[in-house]
Amino acid sequence: MSQRTFGIIKPDAVANGKAGAILAAIEENGFQIVGLRKTRLSQEQAEAFYAVHKERPFYAGLVKFMTEGPVVVMALEKENAILAWRELMGATNPEKAADGTLRKRFAENIERNAVHGSDAPETAAQEIPFFFTGSDLL
Ligand code: RTP
Ligand code: MG
Repeated sequence: MSQRTFGIIKPDAVANGKAGAILAAIEENGFQIVGLRKTRLSQEQAEAFYAVHKERPFYAGLVKFMTEGPVVVMALEKENAILAWRELMGATNPEKAADGTLRKRFAENIERNAVHGSDAPETAAQEIPFFFTGSDLL
């Protein structure tokens, strides 16, 4: 069944000039890009977006990182898109990410790891409308 997921090209990858390569890999792997925008997260947006992690020791650093520069937010569609996008991204820690994955190719470390992806249908259903309204999804 065709499914939608949400992704972010994080500030490290945008600053390193990797947004185009990441978008190319997304298309080469059969995703339809149904929503796409370059933006910069405010402190409030980053805190709300990652609220699930607010008790974690890395939360403050994560919010600081996610607000340090522009990001590219994306809604992606494919069969089993949520799992397929997580697979293309690779493991959170790039040292553990499989060859060919985006995090293996482009991540600097476990925090500055190039891309975000929704981890479940409920997450995707919250994250897509966080950044896109209906008319921006084509
Ligand atoms: P994401 O939510 O960004 O797609 O990443 P994920 O599911 O693979 O990993 P998650 O556990 O949800 O962590 C969210 C983001 O927090 C940063 N992080 N830093 N310093 C650390 O130990 C640490 N652990 C996680 C990463 O940017 C991670 O992607
Ligand atoms: Mg996560």
